Parts: sequence; structure tokens; C-alpha cells
Amino acid sequence: MRAGAIALYEEALREQTAGLIMRTADGRSLPLHVSRWCGPPDTADEEVLRYCRGPVLDVGCGPGRLTVALSERGIPALGVDISRAAVVRVREAGATALHRSVFDPLPGQGRWATVLLADGNIGIGGLPACLLHRCAQLLAPGGRILIEAEPGNVDEQLTAWLEHPDGRRGPVFPWARVGMPALLRATVDVGLQVVEQWRHSDRAFAWVAVRSSGQLLGNPAAKQG
Ligand SMILES: C[S@@+](CC[C@H](N)C(=O)[O-])C[C@H]1O[C@@H](n2cnc3c(N)ncnc32)[C@H](O)[C@@H]1O
Repeated sequence: MRAGAIALYEEALREQTAGLIMRTADGRSLPLHVSRWCGPPDTADEEVLRYCRGPVLDVGCGPGRLTVALSERGIPALGVDISRAAVVRVREAGATALHRSVFDPLPGQGRWATVLLADGNIGIGGLPACLLHRCAQLLAPGGRILIEAEPGNVDEQLTAWLEHPDGRRGPVFPWARVGMPALLRATVDVGLQVVEQWRHSDRAFAWVAVRSSGQLLGNPAAKQG
């Protein structure tokens, strides 16, 4: 999601709009779970939280239910999001967040024990291998990336926009939907490996780490020229 695409998202955070969707260029309607993101962690989130080691960088933290839960448990956590309204909500809830893109310079590069990509955030930017490479740069040695993948066998790069139930739509942005098989392939492409994967009801998760050789491969974005 690009900065200009978030006005409808921010309105939905404020007003808890039901029915905000991501519309794909080929006409599909993908629901956005804004009310879940604005609520407390559910049981699937709680399992993810148990895998977190501090300090945690919550990439695309949104209104910050995970960042806030970690902070309340005494685990150092920083949320990062391009939505100013989301960052304000995290701060109002007593946790720490930065209004910035994951692709911008971030504090603590190479020192985060956990990088979180929850709620399908592996889709940020539309190129999962590039995002994985970026997250791996942020990790401390021995660190982990915790990823929520799509539950099915999905692998697609999308042009999409947000659409309000009243018909208003935001500008287009690139996004990706990545199921576990595609995530396994993308991790290999950048020198990462899936250490563990699990499911919770209809949600799929993976713990990803740098391969034991410790060698990250080149940034796929550079290869694309
Ligand atoms: C699917 S929502 C995830 C919601 C969030 N994990 C939560 O707990 O509420 C995607 C989030 O990623 C953020 N985002 C999109 N592109 C981003 C980027 N380049 N850097 C950081 N955050 C980004 C959006 O603003 C949005 O809050």
C-alpha cells in the first residue's frame, strides 16, 4: 500500500467501517479485517506472540494490537506503518511506533530479534522476495521473521486498490498474496529458510530465519534492474 492509498484505510480505522475491501485489477473483492485489527489479539495472534523474542519490529503494525500486547508483556516492541493514523493509535495505547515505510531507514538495523509480518503483510510492496530480503537485513544474528501467509496455495502479485462500501476507491498499489508453498520458494531465493510452520483454524504462519550458512543472497530488486 502506498502512502496516498491510505485515506480510506485511515477512515476505516477511525469509523470501524465494515465492508472496506481490497479490489484487484481482475475484479476480485478481498475483505480487509479492520475490526479484527482494531480489537485485542485473538487466539491465533496469541500463538504468534508466544513465538516473539524481543526486541520485536512489527512491520505494517496498523493500529497495533500486537505491538501493544508485546509492550504490555514487557517485551520491547516497535511498530512501523505508513499510516499516520495507525501510528497515532499505537502511541495512544501506550506503545511505540514510527510513521515510516519498512523500506526506509529504520532504527536498530541488524539488531531486531523478531520481525513480524502479520495479517498478510508479506504482501507489502508486491514483491515478497524483496520484502523478505529487507526484513532479513533488519534481523539480529539468529533472529526470526514471523510471517502470516495465505491459508491456501496462492502465489500472486496484484495491482489493487481499496474500495469503500459506498463506492469510493483509493489509488492503485502493488500487493502480493503468498501461501505457504510460495513462501517456501521465496525464502530460498533470498537465502532464508522456514524453520517451523503452523496453522491456527484457517490461518497459516511460518517462522523464517537466515540459513545456517548465514549468507543472505543478493537483493532480488537489484537483479530485476
Ligand atoms: C493488512 S494491514 C495489517 C494490519 C496490522 N498488522 C494490524 O495488526 O492491525 C497492512 C498494514 O501495512 C501497512 N503498510 C503498507 N505498506 C507499508 C510499508 N511499505 N511499510 C510499513 N507499513 C506498511 C498499512 O498501512 C497497514 O496498516
